[in-house]
Amino acid sequence: MPTPHNSAEKGDYASTVLMPGDPLRAQFIAEKYLDDAECVNKVRGMLGFTGYYKGTRLSVQSSGMGMPSMGIYSHELFEIYDVQNIIRIGTAGAIAGKVGLREMIIAVSCSTNSSYALQYGLPGTYAPTASWKLLSAAVKAAEEHGGAFHVGNILTSDAFYDDAGSLSVWQKMNVLGIEMESAALYMNAARSGRDALTILTVSDCPLRGLETTAEERQTTFIDMIETALETAAAVEKI
Ligand code: HPA
Repeated sequence: MPTPHNSAEKGDYASTVLMPGDPLRAQFIAEKYLDDAECVNKVRGMLGFTGYYKGTRLSVQSSGMGMPSMGIYSHELFEIYDVQNIIRIGTAGAIAGKVGLREMIIAVSCSTNSSYALQYGLPGTYAPTASWKLLSAAVKAAEEHGGAFHVGNILTSDAFYDDAGSLSVWQKMNVLGIEMESAALYMNAARSGRDALTILTVSDCPLRGLETTAEERQTTFIDMIETALETAAAVEKI
């Protein structure tokens, strides 16, 4: 059943969906890694595809940037399209000193400066947490892939341009990196009783004034995509 944001029919998505923020990355993944890929959504240019990775049916759907956008697409994937697993793949800024450019972060949990959780009316602070099933499969895939990676807490921020310059305060709490979508994804997964995980590559170190080149971002993105695809294929076999 199509929604205002998605023209796909029920059944068009596989039970596991990879979610990059950028629609063109979704298209790149579908074209490079999926056999028999079909485009299932084009509404607002937020491209989605379903195909086969090494014989396993998988989908890739872009999320757009920020929690409101991720909130819409992941809610509909879980609630309208019966998706079981969403694996976000994206870029992050490093916060912790031990996290270097081009390294990967697997997010156990997300701290956030967002008010997204207010909608649940909880009498305390909710802790958005990854699915253990996806997390343990991703750590195994990352170990087999061989690149440097970190596993821990990230910050999902509502602001890219942060006037308060608050990163050094989050650094004191050993937060590994900053991005803008995962807390909404983890909360939606919890609310829908489904599984979610975020895997990131470090594209910049805002506290140290370092950035990767566009070419480096493309290569490190490939390590992350392959880790996410192997994770997805592994959980589909469980
Ligand atoms: N801030 C927020 N999101 C990001 C960053 C950043 O520095 N780098 C990549 N995604």
